[in-house]
Amino acid sequence: MARGKKIYEGKAKTLYEGPEPGTLIQYFKDDATAFNAEKKAVVDGKGVLNNRLSEFFMEGLNSVGVPNHFIKRLNMREQLIRQCEIVPLEVIVRNYAAGSMSKRLGIEEGTRLPRPIIEFSYKDDDLGDPLVPEEYIIAFGWASQQDMDDIVALALRVNDFMSGVMYGVGIKLIDFKIEIGRVWEGDFMRLIVADEISPDSCRLWDIESGQKLDKDVFRRDLGNLTDAYTEVARRLGVLPTNGPAANSTVIN
Ligand SMILES: Nc1ncnc2c1ncn2[C@@H]1O[C@H](COP(=O)(O)OP(=O)(O)OP(=O)(O)O)[C@@H](O)[C@H]1O
Ligand SMILES: [Mg+2]
Repeated sequence: MARGKKIYEGKAKTLYEGPEPGTLIQYFKDDATAFNAEKKAVVDGKGVLNNRLSEFFMEGLNSVGVPNHFIKRLNMREQLIRQCEIVPLEVIVRNYAAGSMSKRLGIEEGTRLPRPIIEFSYKDDDLGDPLVPEEYIIAFGWASQQDMDDIVALALRVNDFMSGVMYGVGIKLIDFKIEIGRVWEGDFMRLIVADEISPDSCRLWDIESGQKLDKDVFRRDLGNLTDAYTEVARRLGVLPTNGPAANSTVIN
């Protein structure tokens, strides 16, 4: 499928115009970044794995009725998605304390939270995506109260689905981040899950050993990131036909 002109190049993905109006092609790069891009590397095969894994999770969400932007995978690194207007928030769902929450509150990483906790950060790289209360979001008009209720409901449904799928393959879903987009059907606006769902945007710990199988491997120099993502893909039965490493140099 011919891709149109480049629309946006982000840290992990590039967006191109899609074949039909209202569609985009999302190209998954091998670039890994952390700490607001202060730490960078090229990780062979990461884009291929994330393309596959995001396809797997988005299709699964679709099958349980959680609306999202995924249309179809095009090749090893690209998928066709529905274009939406991204709500400028990172929606974070936490089941266990980790990362910034553990730091801020002094709660040991891995502590089970009393219930899933949702938090929001304002998407602005220059500001380092600061955590914001719902009151700011509504007051500044980034989303309405109704949108926020819908976003929370969507996030909890994603959490239930993802937790169950991961538990089934011996992985604990510690936390994850999603982005939400707006699409219009006539005058009617709907909120759908957009961006990606992959080990870049989740914390995933092996239930038995506690081994980390997510981007913390890169953030904290815990080993080979591709091996960790490959393990997640292997357990889920989602592996590129020829293996990620073998195709990491193929740009198509
Ligand atoms: N369906 C969609 N329609 C429009 N934009 C999308 C869609 N899904 C994801 N995006 C946007 O595409 C970009 C994906 O690129 P990438 O994740 O590499 O960005 P990034 O470097 O993390 O930057 P950003 O701060 O913009 O998220 C993001 O800006 C994301 O918000
Ligand atoms: Mg991003």
